[in-house]
Amino acid sequence: MAGCSVLSVLVIHICLLLGLSFAEDPFVNYEFVVSYITASPWCSSAGVLFDESGFCCFFVSAFVNQLFGVGFLEFRYVFSFGDCYKWKFPGPTLNVTTNNNVVVNVRNKLDEGLLIHWSGIQQRRSSWQDGLPGTNCPIPAKWNWTYQFQVKDQIGSFFYFPSLNFQRASGGFGSIIVNNRDIIPIPFDTPYGDITIVIGDWYTQNHTALRKTLNAGKDLGMPDGVLINGKGPYRYNDTLVPDGIDYETITVHPGKTYRLRVSNVGISTSLNFRIQNHNLLLAETEGSYTVQQNYTSLDIHVGQTYSFLVTMDQNASSDYYIVASARFVNETTWRRVTGVGILHYTNSKGKASGPLPDPPQDQFDKTYSMNQARSIRWNVTASGARPNPQGSFRYGSINVTEVYVLRNKPPVTIDGKRRTTLSGISFVNPSTPIRLADQYKVKGVYKLDFPTRPLTGPPRMETSIINGTYRGFMEVILQNNDTKVQTYHMSGYAFLCMDYGEWTENSRGTYNKWDGIARTTAQVYPGAWTAILISLDNVGVWNLRTENLDSWYLGQETYVRVINPEPNNKTEFPIPDNALFCGSLSRLQKPQHISFATSVMGSSKQNLLFGFILMLSSLFSIFG
Ligand SMILES: *[C@@H]1O[C@H](CO)[C@@H](O)[C@H](O)[C@H]1NC(C)=O
Ligand SMILES: *[C@@H]1O[C@H](CO)[C@@H](O)[C@H](O)[C@H]1NC(C)=O
Ligand SMILES: *[C@@H]1O[C@H](CO)[C@@H](O)[C@H](O)[C@H]1NC(C)=O
Ligand SMILES: *[C@@H]1O[C@H](CO)[C@@H](O)[C@H](O)[C@H]1NC(C)=O
Ligand SMILES: *[C@@H]1O[C@H](CO)[C@@H](O)[C@H](O)[C@H]1NC(C)=O
Ligand SMILES: *[C@@H]1O[C@H](CO)[C@@H](O)[C@H](O)[C@H]1NC(C)=O
Ligand SMILES: *[C@@H]1O[C@H](CO)[C@@H](O)[C@H](O)[C@H]1NC(C)=O
Ligand SMILES: *[C@@H]1O[C@H](CO)[C@@H](O)[C@H](O)[C@H]1NC(C)=O
Ligand SMILES: *[C@@H]1O[C@H](CO)[C@@H](O)[C@H](O)[C@H]1NC(C)=O
Ligand SMILES: *[C@@H]1O[C@H](CO)[C@@H](O)[C@H](O)[C@H]1NC(C)=O
Ligand SMILES: *[C@@H]1O[C@H](CO)[C@@H](O)[C@H](O)[C@H]1NC(C)=O
Ligand SMILES: *[C@@H]1O[C@H](CO)[C@@H](O)[C@H](O)[C@H]1NC(C)=O
Repeated sequence: MAGCSVLSVLVIHICLLLGLSFAEDPFVNYEFVVSYITASPWCSSAGVLFDESGFCCFFVSAFVNQLFGVGFLEFRYVFSFGDCYKWKFPGPTLNVTTNNNVVVNVRNKLDEGLLIHWSGIQQRRSSWQDGLPGTNCPIPAKWNWTYQFQVKDQIGSFFYFPSLNFQRASGGFGSIIVNNRDIIPIPFDTPYGDITIVIGDWYTQNHTALRKTLNAGKDLGMPDGVLINGKGPYRYNDTLVPDGIDYETITVHPGKTYRLRVSNVGISTSLNFRIQNHNLLLAETEGSYTVQQNYTSLDIHVGQTYSFLVTMDQNASSDYYIVASARFVNETTWRRVTGVGILHYTNSKGKASGPLPDPPQDQFDKTYSMNQARSIRWNVTASGARPNPQGSFRYGSINVTEVYVLRNKPPVTIDGKRRTTLSGISFVNPSTPIRLADQYKVKGVYKLDFPTRPLTGPPRMETSIINGTYRGFMEVILQNNDTKVQTYHMSGYAFLCMDYGEWTENSRGTYNKWDGIARTTAQVYPGAWTAILISLDNVGVWNLRTENLDSWYLGQETYVRVINPEPNNKTEFPIPDNALFCGSLSRLQKPQHISFATSVMGSSKQNLLFGFILMLSSLFSIFG
């Protein structure tokens, strides 16, 4: 008896400790409802929407209907009273502070699975919250699921997006800001305002149609436009831009300095970002403060995020253009694929006019862009997320434990399917996520045999992943043998160098081991390589992928599995109570009792019925 009660006290004690360690840091709650909307400039009787003052409102921009297709993903979050929603496209900015516990309840109102990936957020000790198909089961259609993670030892600018089924092409993305704690200084004066901007190429067709094109072995072709904060171009030229398109306007006060956080959330177009007559003082990228330098324009590749400090130092004789235009393309044919927004001073004397500010004139020469990328340096004396300087982590003294040379190639045909590869392997997502398979000792889900050098034989489709050594340092050389710029992403790495040609052992002599920027997303130019260094200090299974959505969809990715040989609950959090099950573990999944009582006006009966149908059906396929 006594033994029993001691045991139960111990258990409670552990629970209390865990509870306490979370409770020290504040919780921030978000409620995301993800659904399709069909853009319509007026209210329909089917789903009445309200704006903040309670009036029936216009939702999303009319242009989406006219120019950029109809169905797309939308966020709506529950507004303070009853049945009213506020719709957002792009999604709401996740604005949190280092060490906050972030809780996001995601309601999936789509007709397919959903996962939200918090790109660049390190998910220390918990790949359970990473929102990627290799580690998490999709949230089934019409279910909800609550993410909970701590933004630990990170500051900076990131974004989130839906990671399954090409959904990002239909929206569902938004910015993430992780603020520094008050006690930790930032290497510049607090800006007057903090503005998030998401830019990206956009197709008129929705993600299901685009998916079909890719599945049929075809290219997506040229996008139909570039959106700035979900909006189309300002009519800077009557011939090129039709009338009546809603465009983004950013209103600023003269003389003030603003922090602009710009993310390229698009599909596969590298964009050049610039603001007419204004300097962009680069200050941060993906969680690292840079040496502050002025740029008149900066290339932002797919998946990358930058913070600029922009001082409103012009005389406001007019408004100014904000431009995001495609890089390395034929300008004549791509002119209509240009994002144009407006920077409006409160004392502006007129509309923006005249031609757009010039992009770099180098269609066939990527050297300028590469040199610009190399000019971005880490400020090694600025403090990071903790008070110690960013540069206290010395690359030079690191002993690399494993080296992987990864080579991508233009798409190939494997078993009659058009696929993309990395080192000759086209990744196939397992139906049972890797981390879940480990936890439940399911065999045969994946192979730990990803090659350290590119395979020379015929390409193959496999679930082959990298066996990472816990507490090791992995050097990854990305060699781009395709004809397009690709960006590669893995949470938390340092980026060492890039150059043209084939990487050799001798290339190491050119690495910037002093102030090479630490970031999560690096571009690799065609015919060139980029070397990155990854600290394998975070237990879990981590995605290493191309950010170019089409290449990713067709298989250009793998995972790195980092396992503590002596597992405990300190180096990795236990599987969360609400973990979803799928694949060969679907039998463990309990049905979800749907109670969207406050969700859709007058349709609770319908939802109950839906919930009942859901309980009867099994909905666990990853790629629907
Ligand atoms: C996507 O577009 C196709 C037509 O191309 C349409 O049939 C389908 O319903 C749309 N899907 C969504 C989710 O809007
Ligand atoms: C679903 O959402 C409801 C209401 O917001 C919440 O109480 C519940 O915990 C959520 N369920 C899961 C599995 O996250
Ligand atoms: C680097 O950071 C330090 C510390 O905040 C700051 O004083 C310095 O101006 C920064 N240097 C550059 C070149 O941005
Ligand atoms: C983020 O929240 C902080 C307060 O925590 C606020 O000062 C800041 O303006 C917010 N930023 C944005 C972009 O909403
Ligand atoms: C508008 O664009 C067209 C087509 O590129 C071009 O011929 C024309 O000169 C432009 N108009 C102005 C006012 O710049
Ligand atoms: C950047 O440009 C602004 C003018 O727009 C200037 O005031 C500032 O000194 C420049 N900063 C650097 C680091 O060159
Ligand atoms: C304002 O700037 C524009 C161009 O930068 C210039 O043409 C104009 O003369 C300036 N106006 C005043 C009042 O300084
Ligand atoms: C760009 O495209 C136009 C129209 O298709 C073509 O006439 C022109 O030769 C192209 N320019 C280059 C540099 O390829
Ligand atoms: C790297 O290896 C050398 C030689 O084995 C050792 O002296 C050094 O301490 C190691 N450095 C680190 C950071 O572990
Ligand atoms: C994975 O790496 C560890 C060392 O980090 C090694 O002990 C293990 O045997 C490797 N597993 C496989 C399947 O190669
Ligand atoms: C791809 O690799 C082949 C063989 O090594 C080489 O001849 C070719 O130039 C490469 N192409 C690019 C774009 O890197
Ligand atoms: C981790 O914690 C869970 C309960 O939360 C427990 O069941 C498990 O045994 C623990 N694992 C280790 C290795 O301590």
